[in-house]
Parts: sequence; C-alpha cells; structure tokens
Amino acid sequence: MNKTQHFITVAELNKEAIATLLDRAQALIDNNQHSHAILTTLTDKTVANLFFETSTRTQISFELSAKRLGATVINVNINNSSLKKGETLLDTLQTLHAMNCEIVILRHSDDDTIANLAKQLPQGPALINAGSGCFSHPSQALLDMLTIRQHKQRFSDLRCAIVGDIKHSRVARSQIAALQTLGAKEIRLIAPTELQAHNIATENVTLCTDLSSGLSDIDVILLLRVQKERMETLLDSNAYHSSFGLTHEKLTLAKPDALVMHPGPVNRDVEISGALADDCQAVFLQQVNNGIAIRMAILEMVCKEERP
Ligand code: NCD
Repeated sequence: MNKTQHFITVAELNKEAIATLLDRAQALIDNNQHSHAILTTLTDKTVANLFFETSTRTQISFELSAKRLGATVINVNINNSSLKKGETLLDTLQTLHAMNCEIVILRHSDDDTIANLAKQLPQGPALINAGSGCFSHPSQALLDMLTIRQHKQRFSDLRCAIVGDIKHSRVARSQIAALQTLGAKEIRLIAPTELQAHNIATENVTLCTDLSSGLSDIDVILLLRVQKERMETLLDSNAYHSSFGLTHEKLTLAKPDALVMHPGPVNRDVEISGALADDCQAVFLQQVNNGIAIRMAILEMVCKEERP
C-alpha cells in the first residue's frame, strides 16, 4: 500500500465512487465470489478487527470479506490486550502496524475517535470505520444502498423513510448521506420528537413524528433498532411499539410494493412486530449477505493507490 487510504464516512464518497463500490459488490455477487475464498487481491495483506462495541454482522462479515480476498485476519480481543494496561489506542494501532498489519477495522463508541485517529496515522495502518458512536457506519449504509438497488430502479424516484431511534443511529446518519448523494427524491425521518436527530443535513429531508401519516407514498422503509444502551431515560417498549412499531396493518399505509429493511439486530415487537419481521426476514438476510460483498469492495478500495 503506497498511500494510506482510510475509510471513515460516506460523505467522503461522491456519487461516482458510491456507484463504483456498488457495481463492484454486485459483480462479486453475480460471480459468487463473495461466498467462496478464491480471490488473491489481499494475499499480501494483514487485516485486524478491533471492536470496542458488540457486533455480530459487521465484525464477522468484515472478517469473511477479508478472507475471501485472501488476507490474513486477526481479531484483537480488547479485554486481553495492552489497552487494559493503559496503552493508548494510537499506540496499539502503531504496534499492530509494526507487525505489518496494514488495515484495521475499527468500531468505537465515541463519535470522533476513529476520524481523529485516522488523521494521526498518515503512514498507516489504514482505518476502516465499522461504526463510530452515533456518527457514522458507512459500510452498513452502502450495503443498504446495494439492497435498495437490487429491488428498485432509480434512486431519484424513491421516497425513503428512516423510522425509529434516529437520534442514536450512526446507521441513519450514513444512510441519509448516501441517499442524498445518490439523489433520492425524499428522505423522511419518522420518530418520536425525543428520538429525532439534530444537526442533520436538510437537503431532501423531511421530519415526521407520526408513523401512520409518515408512511404515505413511501417506497423504502429503513427501520432502526431502539438503542436502549445509548439512552439516558428508560423507554417503554410497549408504548413505543404501539406508536412507532411497524406492523402488517401499518405497512399497508406505504406503497404496496414498499421494501422493508433493517440493519439488525432486530428487537421483535419493539420497532417491528414479530410476525412482520418473519415476513421481511428474507430482505434482512439479503442485507447481511450483501454486507460481505460491499466490505470486499471497500477493502479493495482502501488498498488502491487512488480512489475514484
Ligand atoms: C447497527 C450498529 O451497530 O450500528 N448494526 C449493525 O451494524 N448491523 C445498528 C444497531 O446496532 O442497531
């Protein structure tokens, strides 16, 4: 790797760069290269997963995608590392780099830590943001865009609703950025007032505090998990479900062919009824499957000398 290419936010990608990543991921899927380890692009690379927050999908799919490209992958156990002895994260990253670990997939609970570390590591390792606080989760947004593109025609025709705990959602912020760059007709943020977000770019964005009216004319529903672990006051799940939980009945208020998506993990009978979650499971799992291909495309991108 000649020049360190960190990957921190969706905002660093223009429309062409997003299209290139989606096209590459789709080609990997079409050739079934995301499901078998047959590529050699990263055989000379070592990739480390460093996750300060829990993860099933993101961590495992980054590991699988790096392995599909032939990389050596290590999963750093934070609890057994020198971070517990007081070493700074910057020192840990430089230590990994000294062992020729060129790429680190990092998830952190702070909004800014990963971006700040990237600025301090011009010589590597390349950092890939696997979720930073409530701020950014670019690989999730890109796999969501790929899933939308597999079901719908043009982004410019789509009214998309992001529903739920927008305030605490890095997924929502990255989805908004991606949908704006791809030119979505409307991005409707549906949430109770206390879970609406502030400081969100307003281009094509409308706010709505009522699920039933908010679903009208919607083509794509992007559900969010209620992130109780980030809330200061306790949320009544039953009350939330009656007002903002998606059910078969409420879904009839959106367009008849509306696509329902969820990044997982799903809290059944909170943001979506268990019965509807069962019916939408195929799409939720398609998102997971797309995640491997998107993350392969991202890994290839950070290893390239120049980005599109
Ligand atoms: C999301 C995350 O961790 O931000 N999950 C994921 O990466 N698939 C969303 C969530 O935890 O609700």
